[in-house]
Amino acid sequence: MIVRPRRLRRTKVLRDMVRETTLSPKDFIYPLFVKPGKGLRDPIPSMPGQYQLTVDTLVEEAREAWDLGVPAVILFGLPDSKDPVGSRSWAPDGIVQQAIMALKESNPEMLVITDVCMCEYTDHGHCGVIKDGDVDNDATLELLAKQAVSHARAGADIVAPSDMMDGRVGAIRQALDQEGFKNTSILSYAVKYASAFYGPFREAAESAPQFGDRSSYQMDPANSLEALKEAELDLEEGADMIMVKPAMAYLDIVRAVKEISLVPLAAYNVSGEYAMVKAAAQNGWIDEQRIMMEILTAIKRAGADLILTYFAKDAARVLQG
Ligand code: PBG
Repeated sequence: MIVRPRRLRRTKVLRDMVRETTLSPKDFIYPLFVKPGKGLRDPIPSMPGQYQLTVDTLVEEAREAWDLGVPAVILFGLPDSKDPVGSRSWAPDGIVQQAIMALKESNPEMLVITDVCMCEYTDHGHCGVIKDGDVDNDATLELLAKQAVSHARAGADIVAPSDMMDGRVGAIRQALDQEGFKNTSILSYAVKYASAFYGPFREAAESAPQFGDRSSYQMDPANSLEALKEAELDLEEGADMIMVKPAMAYLDIVRAVKEISLVPLAAYNVSGEYAMVKAAAQNGWIDEQRIMMEILTAIKRAGADLILTYFAKDAARVLQG
């Protein structure tokens, strides 16, 4: 035998030297949930280790992540009240707006990303306004643009539309530019599937649809050409970065989108993926730390430059030794 691949697996130092994919805390974006009140850290039952926070505890949580080398958080809001159009989503004193200002005041360098969507703010739980029993695309664009502008005004560095309305990246870009926020970037959830993996998140964000489901706007899990089309459209409309979501069951999509995209690509290691690992680990059925690092490495190997993950702090701790 002349070719023996095992030669390069002989020692740890050698394996480290030839490793193709390495993770860094800089790869992670840490999702956080914020609600009104003070001093609260309310555990999310289906997401052990994750909490509904108030502005003050959110600032502490973000600081911990920053100190571990994580450069960014993404915020999800639980508003004080909901209505059919989600008007608390663009209120200057809304919960996310308050959180952005507090984060920027305590640590101006840390990147604040905001999820831009209506589902957390509408009383029906859909990602846009309802007309004739369905989400009305074009009427929703205006509201998303208002929400994005209000996040930018509060100090957000990056807005991340997750609604899957057609044309929202262009509408948001235009509104941001008109209002003088030409340097606020857009990370679009370009490729977002109608996935059962979002279940625990909807408990965490109290955002489950009150009737029907999201399949008239989120993508069919069976499709991959459609992913390329969605990615291309968002890039044409001016997305600075794009995302594929969920991650684990969609690594083929991450790879395919990476191959056509010239901007940084993110993948969202979503709530259901996190919950499955936690549940199995709590039963003693898997080695949580090894599984976590293996999953994150695989997402990066597939082509993601950035990973949105509830494991951000845990994985950063492992990486820092
Ligand atoms: C808002 C939104 C959702 C997630 C991120 N943004 C839920 C949904 O579309 O129902 C899911 C994130 C996760 O599961 O971790 N539209």
